[in-house]
Amino acid sequence: MKDKLIIFDTTLRDGEQSPGASMTRDEKVRIARALEKLKVDVIEAGFPAASEGDFAAVQAVAETVKDSTVCGLARALDRDIDRAGEALKPAASSRIHTFIATSPIHMQMKLKMSPEQVIEYAVKAVKRARRYTDNVEFSPEDAGRSEEDFLCRILEAVIDAGATTLNIPDTVGYSIPADFGAMIGNLMQRIPNADKAVFSVHCHNDLGLAVANSLSAVMNGARQVECTINGLGERAGNAALEEVVMAVKTRHDIFSCDTGIDTREIVTCSKLISSITGFPVQPNKAIVGANAFAHESGIHQDGVLKHRETYEIMRAEDVGWTANRMVLGKHSGRNAFKSRMTELGFEFHSESELNDAFFRFKQLADKKHEIFDEDLQALISEVNSETEEEHYKLVALKVCSETGETPSATVTVEVGEAEFTADSEGSGAVDAALKAIESIVKSGVTLELYSVNSISTGTDAQGEVTVRLEKGGRVVNGLGADTDIVIASAKAYIHALNKLEDKGEKKHPQV
Ligand code: KIV
Ligand code: ZN
Repeated sequence: MKDKLIIFDTTLRDGEQSPGASMTRDEKVRIARALEKLKVDVIEAGFPAASEGDFAAVQAVAETVKDSTVCGLARALDRDIDRAGEALKPAASSRIHTFIATSPIHMQMKLKMSPEQVIEYAVKAVKRARRYTDNVEFSPEDAGRSEEDFLCRILEAVIDAGATTLNIPDTVGYSIPADFGAMIGNLMQRIPNADKAVFSVHCHNDLGLAVANSLSAVMNGARQVECTINGLGERAGNAALEEVVMAVKTRHDIFSCDTGIDTREIVTCSKLISSITGFPVQPNKAIVGANAFAHESGIHQDGVLKHRETYEIMRAEDVGWTANRMVLGKHSGRNAFKSRMTELGFEFHSESELNDAFFRFKQLADKKHEIFDEDLQALISEVNSETEEEHYKLVALKVCSETGETPSATVTVEVGEAEFTADSEGSGAVDAALKAIESIVKSGVTLELYSVNSISTGTDAQGEVTVRLEKGGRVVNGLGADTDIVIASAKAYIHALNKLEDKGEKKHPQV
């Protein structure tokens, strides 16, 4: 029997900390359902003390998820821990994750605390968290740059205080695999009560080593890995769940542990996260990139056709690539539509919501004959974005694009109760449409990113547009999908503007 490697997914917390990746409560619930289906052991649903919205999102995930443990992050402060404990009350199984920085630079410059004070806070926090649950995780933030002797002292103390998981974060992605693995091995040997807790790792990807560092830690005894779908996360991101899981599965000859992940759900989760956050997956990304299993060269294709293992170390269907098939079409009925949407993790709260979504589906099926899961996911995102607070609404859009002429657009936008129409020219049809919208809303935003992705194949495919807007230091992503990419662009721009209208204050846990 191999050991169990616990998979702790932090897409909804650390993933959400990437600029522009913030998610609504409903989006978090949809992702949590998909993660539960993927069979992750622990879902870190958020940082409840960040804002009322974050508290409500963690609570909603705790109410929904039954098979995975739901975790909330808390700084080593009474108020944070109480908020996490409250938000997690409805969970079938809950965990509080509390942390405090332990590197000399963080203790001196950020916390302005002595090492003794840091130990005191950590112990107090763990004891307080134990009032709410017996499943308590402690992280010494910036462990990758902390002194090993100090880590031994603080970790021994928090185990005595009741911590059951010790998570060692490489917060700034500074570690190198051999050293990081050795550090985990040393801590496990040197801490006298180490056998009373599970050792976990949480690696950031600043040097592109997050997965390598995590795997090196596993080879040295770590039995929990913290990771995110598609490696989403602050700066260069976190360790990618799909890469960690598939490395352990594919190289079962060298890992003495197994995960409980249902790998066939990986691609569905990856596409869902990408479509909700607007962070596209690069085509050559391991496991979930569109080219990850594509064999282009004639020599490779010949080898694969003769004997698959000549060039394939994993099977595309084992990570869910076969799910990428035509599922519905023009003649599909309401029941088929509803049941596929349910399989994709979307629940209709009323008949009218179902009718509305089915009407949009029919409109789309009139424009394109084959409807893929990705099209349905984009449709769900659109329904969801319209159920959020909508200050601006796209009413109509007309563009004129002709060789040798300057493209122009006429746009009508509803602002509150009133409708406004504006014309504009631009260097292309998209530019003209966005300028026309801007001349109505006068938002003064900076466009930081504009990208278009084809949701499926063929010229009738829907284009999914992501725009990232910045205003006053706030960054939001907007998404829009349509078979016409100018309309998709206008929808994405309006979606982002609506997100900027939501002024809710949100604290960052590590600042
Ligand atoms: O990177 C980090 O140190 C974290 C902690 C809160 C665990 O995300
Ligand atoms: Zn982190």
